[in-house]
Amino acid sequence: MEVTHRPFGVTKDGQSVTEFRLTNRQGAYVKLLDYGCTVRSLVLPDAVGKMTDIVLGYDTLREYEERDGYLGAVVGRFANRIGGGKLVIDGQEYLLAVNDGPNHLHGGFRGFDRRVWKADWNEKGITFSRFSPEGEEGYPGNLQVAVRYEWSDENELTIHYTAETDAATAVNLTNHSYFNLNGSGSVLEHLLQINADQITENDPDCLPTGRFIELADCPAMDFRTAKPVGRDIEIPDQNLRNGKGYDHNYVLRSPGIDREAARLYSPASGITLVCRTTQPGVQLYSANFLTERCGKNGVIYYPRGGVCLETQHFPDAIAKGFVPSPILRPGERLEETTIYAFSSEKP
Ligand code: GAL
Repeated sequence: MEVTHRPFGVTKDGQSVTEFRLTNRQGAYVKLLDYGCTVRSLVLPDAVGKMTDIVLGYDTLREYEERDGYLGAVVGRFANRIGGGKLVIDGQEYLLAVNDGPNHLHGGFRGFDRRVWKADWNEKGITFSRFSPEGEEGYPGNLQVAVRYEWSDENELTIHYTAETDAATAVNLTNHSYFNLNGSGSVLEHLLQINADQITENDPDCLPTGRFIELADCPAMDFRTAKPVGRDIEIPDQNLRNGKGYDHNYVLRSPGIDREAARLYSPASGITLVCRTTQPGVQLYSANFLTERCGKNGVIYYPRGGVCLETQHFPDAIAKGFVPSPILRPGERLEETTIYAFSSEKP
């Protein structure tokens, strides 16, 4: 694998941002930014050999700084929601930034997605790291966190997260890439399968109620067998209404990097994505809140123009008592791995 880099811009507060390009032996490549550990492009051949960029992103740093939606970024310190922004650990209450209606979302107003990380790289991959001080967006504990990306000759993107703290804190790290296996247009025809028998039920603000829903009892939410993302999305189902589409945490049947968590396939391009992860859940988000905007190379993005498969710990896990617990304590080391493996079916 070859790593090259170029200046990508300067943030509004004067920090230089670099774009790294990881190119494998097949000529397929990933472009990463040290701003938010962002996956900016992921370019690989479709079934007829046409190089296709299958993630959403922007042309300029300013758009990453100003637009919402977390395109391609790593989100943290705690991905997804924490009810009322209230974090209670060992009886001590911490008030986090409230940036999503009544709740805390994706690390607050300025989460990990809006920070410049330190980059170290070699021919095997690139590690982004940062120090998140105690009090950042309200969190307890000084956190040393790293995200390592590797891009194999077999078109597998591996994301490895590590973190250590000096006081008990909540950590939940994910990547917020929007996949569109055709490169543009709708994803409603993509076939999706998720190896999950349950979801965590949401309230109308997309916060877990603490209850689980059996997918056998809820066909609209059920992806145990592959079906088009859009087949049931307009069904008058309360879960879909709460998320304005899919925006739900799927409880993985058996997490582990040697087992498949989810599979996404586009019949139009012949590209398949297989997701494997050590994390217990995956947030399926069908880009319901992605307002119309101009993306890379003049491509227009629309709601439902991407699928996020955000591998994660369950949302609001501490307040709801979900296991495994996302509390990280001094002396412990968080280690999570997610692999997105791509292939194209030859016609
Ligand atoms: C998702 C979240 C959505 C929305 C989106 C960003 O992870 O579940 O509700 O906030 O991020 O627009």
